Amino acid sequence: MESRLSIWALGLLFFTLVVADGNNSNSTSNGSRNCKFPAIFNFGDSHSDTGSSSATFNFLQAPNGMSFRNYSKRSSDGRLIIDYIAENLGLPYLDAPVDSIGTNFKHGANFATGGARISSDVIMGKTTPYHLGVQVSQFLQFKSRAIALHKELLNNKNNPPIENKFPEPEVFSKALYTIDIGGNDDFNNHTISTTMDQFTNTLQRLLGDGAKYFWIHNTGPNGCGPFGHINCKKEPGCVLDQNGCDKKWDENSQAYNKLLKDRVSRLRAQYPDAVITYVDIYSAKHKLIVNAKKYGFGDPFKFCCGNGYLCGQVDFNETLLGTACKDPQNYINWDGIHYTQAANRFVANFVVNGSLSDPPVPVAEACHKQY
Ligand SMILES: *[C@@H]1O[C@H](CO)[C@@H](O)[C@H](O)[C@H]1NC(C)=O
Ligand SMILES: *[C@@H]1O[C@H](CO)[C@@H](O)[C@H](O)[C@H]1NC(C)=O
Ligand SMILES: *[C@@H]1O[C@H](CO)[C@@H](O)[C@H](O)[C@H]1NC(C)=O
Ligand SMILES: *[C@@H]1O[C@H](CO)[C@@H](O)[C@H](O)[C@H]1NC(C)=O
Ligand SMILES: *[C@@H]1O[C@H](CO)[C@@H](O)[C@H](O)[C@H]1NC(C)=O
Ligand SMILES: *[C@@H]1O[C@H](CO)[C@@H](O)[C@H](O)[C@H]1NC(C)=O
Ligand SMILES: *[C@@H]1O[C@H](CO)[C@@H](O)[C@H](O)[C@H]1NC(C)=O
Repeated sequence: MESRLSIWALGLLFFTLVVADGNNSNSTSNGSRNCKFPAIFNFGDSHSDTGSSSATFNFLQAPNGMSFRNYSKRSSDGRLIIDYIAENLGLPYLDAPVDSIGTNFKHGANFATGGARISSDVIMGKTTPYHLGVQVSQFLQFKSRAIALHKELLNNKNNPPIENKFPEPEVFSKALYTIDIGGNDDFNNHTISTTMDQFTNTLQRLLGDGAKYFWIHNTGPNGCGPFGHINCKKEPGCVLDQNGCDKKWDENSQAYNKLLKDRVSRLRAQYPDAVITYVDIYSAKHKLIVNAKKYGFGDPFKFCCGNGYLCGQVDFNETLLGTACKDPQNYINWDGIHYTQAANRFVANFVVNGSLSDPPVPVAEACHKQY
C-alpha cells in the first residue's frame, strides 16, 4: 500500500515537473524565455470547441475523432488547433466546464461553443446563446467559484482530502487567454462597429479582472470552405472569386480581421501591463486552401463526412448523420465547415512558432512584451 502510494507520488512529481515547468520537447521555446503558462482559458466558436456544444446541445459522436483516440465532442476527425497549442505548452487538452463526465480543469478550461458569435444578437436555432459575452460571464463565475473552493478546502484540513480539479487562485493571472471567433457573425456596415465594440468590451472585462496574456486568432477564410463554395454556386447573384471563395463572404472576413487588428492595437495602448498577441490564422488557412495540391491534399471543396454541415450528430428523427471517408488525412475539410486534423496540424505548426503572430513570438513566449 505504502509503496504504491510512493510510486503514485513519484508519478505525480514527474507529471508536475514535465507539465508545470514547461520543459516540453513539443514546445517551440526551450530556454529562459519560456513563459511556463500554467493554464489556458479559451473562448470562441466550433473551431476551438472541445466539448461545450456537444455537452449542451447535441453529442458530437463518431465519426468525429476517428483519427485520434476516437476523441469526439469536437467537429473534426481529431485534434483542433487549440489541442496543438496545449501540446506545445505541455498542458493537457482543455475541457468545457459544461461537460460533466471525466473532465478536469486544473490547467485551464474551454468556453468556446459551436455556433458562437461575438454579437449578443442570438438567432434561435442558428446560433448558440453562449456568445462571447456569455462565455466570459461563465469564465468569471468559474474563476470566483474555483477561488472559493480553494479557500474552503484549505479551511477543511481535517476532513478527508478531496481532489481539487480546479485551478489554484494564482493561476488566473499567469494563464494564457486564447480567443478564436468571428465566423458566425454577420458583418455589414450596419452591424460591424457594434460587433467590434462588443469584442472590445468583452476583452476589457477579462483585462479588468486581471487576465494579462492574450493570444488572439483572427477569423479564417470562412467563405472558402466547401459550405461557402457550394452554397454560393446555388445562390443567384453570389460571386466566386478566382480561388473559388464566396467573394462577399471572404471580403467580410478580411474586413473583420482588419478591424480586429485595429482594436487589438487600441487595447494594447489602454492596458500597458497586458501582453496581447494578434495571430493571422487567416493567412495560413487561405494558403492551405489555395495550394491544397502542393501541400499534399485533395480538392479543398470536398469534405470527408456528413451532409455539408453536420457530421456525427443525431437529427430530430434520432438518425445519426454522417458516414466518413476512409482517408481524412487527404482532406482539408472534414464536414463542409470544419477542418480535418491534418489541416489543423498544418495550420498549428505555423501558429505555435509565432510565424503568424504580430509581434512574431512563439506561443510559449507570449508573456514577453515586444511591441
Ligand atoms: C530544444 O532543445 C533540444 C535539445 O537541446 C533540441 O533538440 C530542440 O530542437 C530544441 N527545440 C527548440 C524549439 O529550440
Ligand atoms: C529540460 O530537462 C532536461 C533534463 O531532463 C534539462 O537538461 C534541460 O536543461 C531542461 N530544459 C529546460 C529549458 O528547462
Ligand atoms: C474507434 O471507433 C471505431 C468504431 O466507431 C472502432 O472501430 C475503433 O476501433 C475505435 N478506435 C479506437 C482507437 O478506439
Ligand atoms: C507532445 O505531443 C504529443 C502528441 O504530438 C503528445 O502525445 C504528448 O503528450 C505531448 N507531450 C507533452 C509533454 O505535452
Ligand atoms: C461598406 O460600405 C462601403 C462603401 O460604402 C462598401 O464599399 C463596403 O463593401 C461595405 N462593407 C460591407 C461589409 O458591406
Ligand atoms: C424526419 O421526420 C420528419 C417527420 O416525420 C420527416 O418529414 C423528415 O423527412 C425526416 N427526415 C429525415 C432526414 O429522415
Ligand atoms: C514555423 O513553422 C513553419 C511550418 O513548420 C515553417 O515553415 C516556418 O519556417 C517556421 N517559422 C519559424 C519562424 O520558425
